[in-house]
Amino acid sequence: MTDPYADMPYPDALHEGTHLDGLAARARLHGVDAPDPETARVLAIGTARGANLLALAAAFPKATFVGVDLSEAQVGEADAMRRELGLSNIRFVAADLTTIDASWGDFDYIIAHGVFSWVPPEVADALLGLSARLTATGVMYVSYNVFPGWSDRIVIRELLLRHTASIEAPRDRIAQARELLRFLASQKPRAAWAHDLDAIVAEFDEHEDGYLFHEWLETFNHPLWFEDFVARAAAAGLAYLTDVQLPRSLPANYGPDVESVLEPLGPVGAGRYLDFLGDRRFRQSLLVRAEVKPDRTFDPERMRAFRFSARFTASGPPPADGAWELQSPSGGFSAGTPTSKLALLHLLRVCPERPSFDEILGALPEAQRDPIDLVQTLLACVMRDWVGLHVWKSPISASAGARPRVWGLARQLADRESVPSLLHQNVRIGALGRLFLRELDGRTTVPELAARLVALEESGSLQVGWPGARPSDHDGRLRVLTDLVQDRVDSLARLGLLVASR
Ligand SMILES: C[S@@+](CC[C@H](N)C(=O)[O-])C[C@H]1O[C@@H](n2cnc3c(N)ncnc32)[C@H](O)[C@@H]1O
Repeated sequence: MTDPYADMPYPDALHEGTHLDGLAARARLHGVDAPDPETARVLAIGTARGANLLALAAAFPKATFVGVDLSEAQVGEADAMRRELGLSNIRFVAADLTTIDASWGDFDYIIAHGVFSWVPPEVADALLGLSARLTATGVMYVSYNVFPGWSDRIVIRELLLRHTASIEAPRDRIAQARELLRFLASQKPRAAWAHDLDAIVAEFDEHEDGYLFHEWLETFNHPLWFEDFVARAAAAGLAYLTDVQLPRSLPANYGPDVESVLEPLGPVGAGRYLDFLGDRRFRQSLLVRAEVKPDRTFDPERMRAFRFSARFTASGPPPADGAWELQSPSGGFSAGTPTSKLALLHLLRVCPERPSFDEILGALPEAQRDPIDLVQTLLACVMRDWVGLHVWKSPISASAGARPRVWGLARQLADRESVPSLLHQNVRIGALGRLFLRELDGRTTVPELAARLVALEESGSLQVGWPGARPSDHDGRLRVLTDLVQDRVDSLARLGLLVASR
């Protein structure tokens, strides 16, 4: 069989939901004693050119990683990158996942992003059969497309497949597909299956050909109903734990009517209705061995064992009296009690660091140090994704310090258009930003870097976008550039690109 990924490799991307910290935190939230990510043994299936796993291996130097992909071409590229980065805790293997047996050993985390729906059904079942390779309290991550969200898209996909069937080159097929979609959308069809057409056109404008080809024109793309996925996982000896997007799996987050009807059905019984109501097309589910019994009581006391991060913003400081209004990607909310206001303010101040429960409590003035209020506040915020839940301290530093230091992998990849952050996100970087990533190695101060930039600018080798007119004298230029460098360094810190200076 030819390798569909040889001509059209999958684009390099980081998948935040696959991060070991999040997998461990979600498992422990459910009372499952998931292995410590720092020392875990990790198997990833379908690693393509390896970007996601390489970033994890760089973040967890004491853990060990095995990446498997059927595509020799992609594994070759992943391995070349591994060598270039000098990572010794990871290896890439060109193999069919169906051949993985006991000789590979057992793994604490098994990650399969973008594989299950995109392989033949028997291979998808073999993927779930890797449960035999999962340690006792290990966690398996599997992403897949779901119904009913994909129902209309199946029709559009079929149309695109038929329309481009006679075209050989993958890029030409994508170009034709794009053109057809634009044409169809311009006709504003009223058919039920066309209601998402504008969104699909936008998706084609936004994504790289490599992603679009393997999502829309690949031979295999089998969406399935959530409960059917759970049944197939059960047949392979796996139990459903939760999804990466925990809040979307909780009926309480859909309002009191939905909660009263769906909560009694349990997470699996409620799944199909939540997917329907939430217009969900894609799931990132976490599975554990069938004998592990997840505890879904969400005892607030469990919060004491975690670390937390702000996933919200505020337009001002908390008012002395009354509620503090906050914004988050999942909607606005307010904090009312003095303890909750000050705890959330602390999270914002230290973001993107992840203080532990005790560190947050210790940062509160004695009069507001109410642990009962704090556990309840944190649990309520975690359940709605206003606050991130972590088990990993992470070397992220929120303050640049005197000699800012960019984390190793981002410095090594500084000549790329985007670099991986310690938040496991790809950060797009301009030319000046790239220079910062290279220079900030923990030995240079902000004024020293500003002085270097002024010298480069004055010699004509660097173009600076001055905020206003270019200052006429050297000292003026140095002053403006020092402020600009400090601003940029602070934003690198917020993006999770800096670690504490040694
Ligand atoms: C859509 S890509 C997944 C992207 C990737 N997980 C990432 O991190 O971006 C699917 C990958 O699965 C691989 N694959 C397909 N069938 C496989 C099999 N039987 N065994 C191992 N890998 C397989 C493909 O070669 C391809 O690289």
